[in-house]
Amino acid sequence: MRRSFVAGNWKMKGTRSEASDLIGSLARAMPSLTDKDLDVAVFPPYILIPQVFELCQTRNIDVGSQDIDAHMGGAYTGAISGNMLVDHGCKFVLVGHSERRHLYGEDDMTVGHKVDAACRSGLKPVICVGETLRQREASKTTNVIEQQINSIIESAGAGVFLEGLVAYEPVWAIGTGKTATPGQVQEIHALIRDLIRKNDKEAAGQVRILYGGSVKPDNASNLFKEEDVDGGLIGGASLNSDDFLAICRAA
Ligand code: PGA
Repeated sequence: MRRSFVAGNWKMKGTRSEASDLIGSLARAMPSLTDKDLDVAVFPPYILIPQVFELCQTRNIDVGSQDIDAHMGGAYTGAISGNMLVDHGCKFVLVGHSERRHLYGEDDMTVGHKVDAACRSGLKPVICVGETLRQREASKTTNVIEQQINSIIESAGAGVFLEGLVAYEPVWAIGTGKTATPGQVQEIHALIRDLIRKNDKEAAGQVRILYGGSVKPDNASNLFKEEDVDGGLIGGASLNSDDFLAICRAA
């Protein structure tokens, strides 16, 4: 049985006091939720990670980073390495989020290097994949997902999915209020699991595949009911404790 996973991606949002209010509200509800086959993690901006880690300790909430540098250390002004993230309590790291791919020009090769850096530092990567609206309308969704997953398998090996997770996030559903239907989501999650199965049966059975893209309390349970959906990567709704907790309960 795969444990469900709900992750909150705060993006470039939150002050110190907002972070402490939000974690305070989540923590009060958490033990009863995370005792039941559910893992919960939050992904604050880099600068809030030390504070959020202190607040989350002993509260069954894990902390992850939204990004990582592909290098392990050295003269890379402005960059943060995996070892630094581990030193500050991170267990997970998002890699290849569509905002990194599309706004910062990260291609599959960069994503592969970042997955490698995450694994070498002992972080579990949450590898994000997804098609744009134009690609979906041109019936290229399957090709895009195959390309993104196969490039990880080629660079890091399918064994990376024994510990690592996948987040399927159609770009057209992120922050738009448009959610993919449960049927569309299940189809792509099954495809991702099949692609991994072709290379590593054990990893395919174990990998947790999250859905992300406008997940809200009112659509979460229908999405999470699908066989290959193991939880969600939540953006906007993760900043509201009532909404985030409702989504955790749905998982
Ligand atoms: P959203 O973002 O829930 O606001 O659509 C999801 C994400 O970007 O991970």
